[in-house]
This record gives sequence, structure tokens and C-alpha cells, in this order.
Amino acid sequence: MEQLKAYFEENKERYLNELLDLLRIPSVSADSAYSGDVAKTAEFVAQKLKDAGAENIEICPTAGHPIVYGEKIIDPALPTVLVYGHYDVQPPDPLDLWESGPFEPVIKNTERHPQGAIYARGACDDKGQMYMHVKAFENMQANNALPCNIKFMIEGEEEVGSENLEPFLRERAEQLACDVILISDTSMIANDVPSITVGLRGLSYIEVEVTGPNRDLHSGTYGGAVGNPINVLSKMIASLQDENNHITIPGFYDDVEVVSAEERKAMNEAPFSIDQYKKDLEIGDVRGEAGYTTLERTSIRPTLDVNGMWGGYTGEGAKTVLPSKAYAKISMRLVPNQDSHKITELFTKHFESIAPESVQVKVTPHHGGEPVVTPTDGIEYQSAAKAYQATFGKTPIPQRAGGSIPIVALFEDVLGVKTVMMGFGLDSDAIHSPNEHFGIFNYYKGIETIPYFYKYFTEAKQS
Ligand code: BES
Ligand code: MN
Ligand code: MN
Repeated sequence: MEQLKAYFEENKERYLNELLDLLRIPSVSADSAYSGDVAKTAEFVAQKLKDAGAENIEICPTAGHPIVYGEKIIDPALPTVLVYGHYDVQPPDPLDLWESGPFEPVIKNTERHPQGAIYARGACDDKGQMYMHVKAFENMQANNALPCNIKFMIEGEEEVGSENLEPFLRERAEQLACDVILISDTSMIANDVPSITVGLRGLSYIEVEVTGPNRDLHSGTYGGAVGNPINVLSKMIASLQDENNHITIPGFYDDVEVVSAEERKAMNEAPFSIDQYKKDLEIGDVRGEAGYTTLERTSIRPTLDVNGMWGGYTGEGAKTVLPSKAYAKISMRLVPNQDSHKITELFTKHFESIAPESVQVKVTPHHGGEPVVTPTDGIEYQSAAKAYQATFGKTPIPQRAGGSIPIVALFEDVLGVKTVMMGFGLDSDAIHSPNEHFGIFNYYKGIETIPYFYKYFTEAKQS
């Protein structure tokens, strides 16, 4: 490990510059205008894996964006770690809220990142975190210190629902066989409070279209007499939560796992300041389901949120119109043991049932995913905890995340292996928002910590 440290010190500036190069390629998976850049990013990742010493590199085409595969098998008898990450990023808009170009990375110091943070779309989610693994691998390879086999599967469609990854997993289950999946695509509590992600929420994502009259109408001539689809949709959406912010869809909570008082107590002991939280977000108060704390509301409880809503006239000035149509995109975050298909069905039935006769509704489901919880008593988590202990000098705190990575539930189903989620970002890193960033401390700490996981996991597996 001393050798790794020396090599890291010699090369860390290059590690940073390579990440900046990666961030300059706008790999926005949601927008077909960027398809060429997405493909270029896959090539970049493949080349860097090759440079680092990986073999059997493949850029695997899918019905959507390609999946990059690479491996280093040093001895089939040794354990194998499969690294999963994504090289695609969220769209950068709203562009005018960025202080610097989303694909022109710059380094700035912040209160939480006094050693500097890299500002760019994908810096934290997930290019920066994914690339830590490529560099940790380079470090181990260059020093003949890789203790086990390693496989990389880096996809380009995570931000659009990973629809082509499941068939890929099933087709290549043999090639992807491994003993553990390792992912860095989540966050930790703070730079001096390391934590390991032990849960993800599932997701049901739905688009609704409400149609009133057959055309836009004069809002004076017809207003007051014809159902306005935007007014109607607003009321329908408002009715989906009661005064306790409980979701009113019948059956919605039926399968929700009841978390023990003991576990709730433990999760509420994690360092967290509600005042800092409000200050960061510039909100007067938090809001959520009655009877639960903010930490619980963002981890063990399901949610329903409008992600976007539109219709009618939204241009400059005032146009007096009673619109024909109104739209909304709605996400529901799910917890164990909810099932995304069942929730989508319950939502659809309920939404159709509450529509007044004055409108028609059309409900279209988008991608979804299942929730997961990973155990803390297995060698997977324990090896990761030891790795953090080695580099942070502190025992990490297990924490469930509010976000979703749908493929994680499938890893266990298809490959039958557990996942370890070593996230090195911070919740304040503004992923999916303007001015996304990733601390240089976090990037380097990740590169330093990952090899310890390999070491401890291999030792645990062999003992
Ligand atoms: N890396 C995130 C998920 C995440 C973020 C998990 C923070 C835990 C903490 C991932 O890239 C993501 O954004 N996932 C989407 C779901 C996907 C189906 C579009 C999400 O959670 O909205
Ligand atoms: Mn991600
Ligand atoms: Mn994301």
C-alpha cells in the first residue's frame, strides 16, 4: 500500500487532468443531438481502461447507447469484483444558471470543498466517481498490486433508465460472473463523516395528459363554463396527498416495509443539521410526511412528486387562452417491499378514477426500478467499512439513499451477488442541477480507498 501511495502522489495531477478531459465530452444520454458525443465518451472510457491495463475491452452496442466492458483476470481461482458505473450525464439545462460552462470544467474552492471542487455536468454523477475506479485500477496494476480479478461494466444509459442493461446482463451473465458488485454513484455524509450507502429507493415515473375541449379557447368567451385542464390537473395532483402529506392512492402503502424502532433510532443518530439543511436550500421550513424525520422521509418512506408540469400559454406577456391540454411528469420513489409495476398500476387506476367528466386523461408510464437494501453483516460491507477505516481513520456510517439506481436490484436477481455502494460525493454537490461539482478531496480519497476494498475483500473471501 505504501507503493500505491507513492505512485498516486506522482500521478495525481494527471488523474485530475484526465477527468477534466472526460468531463469536456457532453455525454447527455437523454438528447439524441449528443449521440455522437456519447459514443466518443464510450471510446474515451474504453481507451483509458486499456491504458490502465485492462484486457478484452469491448464497446458493446445496444439498442441505445453502448456499454463499455473490460477486465483483468489474474487468476480464475481468485475472487472477482465487477465495477459498475455510468459515463452518461443528465442534460445541463437550465444553462443560464451555470456559473461556468457545464462542459468546460473549472476548479473552485467552496465552503464544503476548501481543497477545490471540479465544476461540470457529470463531475460527481457519475464520471468523477466512475473514473476513480479506473485510476484505482491503474494504480494497482502499475504496482503489481491487484489482489483479485476485476471486470468493468460502464454504461451510457443510466440517466435514462438503463433499459438495455437488463437484456445485456442476462445475455452475458456468464461473462459477468463475479463475487461482488462495486459501485460509486451515491453520496457520503460529509468529508469528515464517511458513510456507505446501504439502500436505494425504487422508482415509478409517469406522464399524464389531461384533455379538456378539442381546441384552445378564448378564456373570456368560454372561461367559467368549460373545464380548464390545467385547473383540473392541479386539483387532481393536489388531491394525491392529504393534510399529513400522506399519499392518498388506495393501496399505495400496502407493501411498505415497516422499519424497526431500533433501526429508525440508529438512522436518526447520523450527523445531520436541520438548520444547515434549510440554510443550504434557502427554505423557511421542511415539509413532508407527518410522523417522520427528514432523514426518514428521504430514505425509508415513499414519495410522490411532480417533476414538471406544462400546458397553455407560457410565452412572453399575456395571452388569454383556456387551453385544450395539460401535462405533468410525476415520480414516485419507492421503498422495500413496494413493486414499481404494482404502484404504476395503482396510480393509473386511481388517477383515471378521480378525473371529472369534463376532461379525459391519458396515463403513460416511463421507466421504473425496484428498491434495494444491502446487508451490513456480510464480507462485502465489512470489507468496504475496513477500507474507509484505513483511509479516513473512522468507521463509516451505513446510510440508505433516497435516489435510485434501478440496475442494482437486478444484479442480485440475475447474477446472484451483493452490491457495495461506496459513494464519495456529497448531497450538496448539486447533481442533476446547475453547477454540479465534485470535490478534489473526494476524487482522490476514492482512488485511495478503493484498493483497500480489493485487498480486504480478497482476504475475507479466501479465509
Ligand atoms: N447516481 C444517481 C442516483 C443516486 C444519487 C443515488 C444520489 C443515491 C444518491 C443516478 O444517476 C440517478 O440519478 N438515478 C435516477 C434514476 C434513473 C432511473 C433516471 C434517479 O434517482 O432519479
Ligand atoms: Mn448516477
Ligand atoms: Mn443521476
